[in-house]
Amino acid sequence: MSSNPLAPSWLALPGDANALPEQVWSRNAARSAAGELEIAGVSATSLAEQFGTPVYVVDEADVKDRAVGIREAFDREFARVGSSAKVYYAGKAFLSIEVARWVTDAGLNIDVASGGELAVALAAGVDPSRLGLHGNNKSLAEIDRAVGVGVGAIVIDSEVEIGRVAAAAARWGRVQPVRLRINSGVHASTHEYLATAREDQKFGITLADAPSLVALIRDQPSLTFLGLHSHIGSQIFESDGFAEAARRLFALHAELLGGGPVPELNLGGGFGIAYTSVDEPLAIEEIAVRFADIVAGGAAELGIPVPAVAIEPGRSIIGPSTTTLYTVGTIKDVLVSTGSVGSTGESAVRKYVSVDGGMSDNVRPALYAADYSVRLANRSSTAEPALVRIAGKHCESGDIVVKADYLPSDVQPGDLVGVPATGAYGWAMASNYNYLRRPPVVAVIDGEARVIVRGETEEDLLSRDAGARR
Ligand SMILES: Cc1ncc(COP(=O)(O)O)c(C=O)c1O
Repeated sequence: MSSNPLAPSWLALPGDANALPEQVWSRNAARSAAGELEIAGVSATSLAEQFGTPVYVVDEADVKDRAVGIREAFDREFARVGSSAKVYYAGKAFLSIEVARWVTDAGLNIDVASGGELAVALAAGVDPSRLGLHGNNKSLAEIDRAVGVGVGAIVIDSEVEIGRVAAAAARWGRVQPVRLRINSGVHASTHEYLATAREDQKFGITLADAPSLVALIRDQPSLTFLGLHSHIGSQIFESDGFAEAARRLFALHAELLGGGPVPELNLGGGFGIAYTSVDEPLAIEEIAVRFADIVAGGAAELGIPVPAVAIEPGRSIIGPSTTTLYTVGTIKDVLVSTGSVGSTGESAVRKYVSVDGGMSDNVRPALYAADYSVRLANRSSTAEPALVRIAGKHCESGDIVVKADYLPSDVQPGDLVGVPATGAYGWAMASNYNYLRRPPVVAVIDGEARVIVRGETEEDLLSRDAGARR
């Protein structure tokens, strides 16, 4: 059998369409002796029976291991170069009360990007001094609450925020530690990075404007300057972009040392993960080695002490941990021409497998053309692989969950399929489009499953509609 001409060039015909490539699947995902997908010893069928589908299944031990792993790697490598590293978990990727506890128990801090994320971290009982607050347009209420509870750092994103945060801190009688977000002109995405004088985007302050704003911060008795911040993008596979951003920030960091202390340098998050079997992200241990070398090398060049570093990974901690289980509803073999428009040449079949969720539980394929992969979950099959497109149930032709992968050709209505690596920006970006209910998030560990965020009910959907109460 040969590969389907409609398959993208990177997608090879699999030798075994039931295999679970380990870089894509969570660490405790495996096939049972009977061929069923099990995560942390809990079968896909029992998860679907207990919680319905779609359901996000989080491999709890995987998240905890990754959180500990990243902290240990950065601790070790920055100790090697005579400094230290602070790891913030970027809660925007996925935050719930339990997850906030898992990551803080693993020794991480948490970066929140709104009053809502702050509320979740506080509800989890996280010590506010371990929180950082981000946002290019924080409301006065968000700033006031963050300062009032005593968050450890606020990342100032524009000049006007200096006065806003300083005023809130003065009202609360506090000295608020702040960072200044820099628009370094470096943007990295997956395998490439772009470096310009100034990136055309809404976040941060230019390198040129930064010294005067730091002086302004230092003039405020209710603020204390923690250092510069840079986040160059997401799903990054190489360290060149970070190196370039760090190089640009270093020069400024060194200059600012002339005017007072600059205790830390925050290099943001963005480490890539594997969504498909051809993705080869750097191991976190390797990222830590490279970061420490970049920072130590930059400091040596400028003759300054190696700064303490902060990082803010989200996706690389939570992303690979989660699998979304769906039930197959309808299947259509669509004959697609493989020749040029209007030609009567060759055609091939694309099997459209529609599932009971879609862009409301994972908008990334529609939003970023993100690729995912898929496997049969309730069983294995020796049927020949067929090229499939996993479609959702929304009223949009762009409602695609997996653009292309191979499934056994005997996939049928009622089968369960699993889409791995949906932990980051899946539930977090979920919506109620078409009045679909947001699915539950279920943690699995040691053969046990429990809900960590319940799924929405029809009542939830109606409860905010004022007409329902008349
Ligand atoms: C400022 C900031 N820090 C951290 C992150 C986390 O990025 P990732 O989840 O790719 O690690 C983001 C993501 O958008 C961000 O904007």
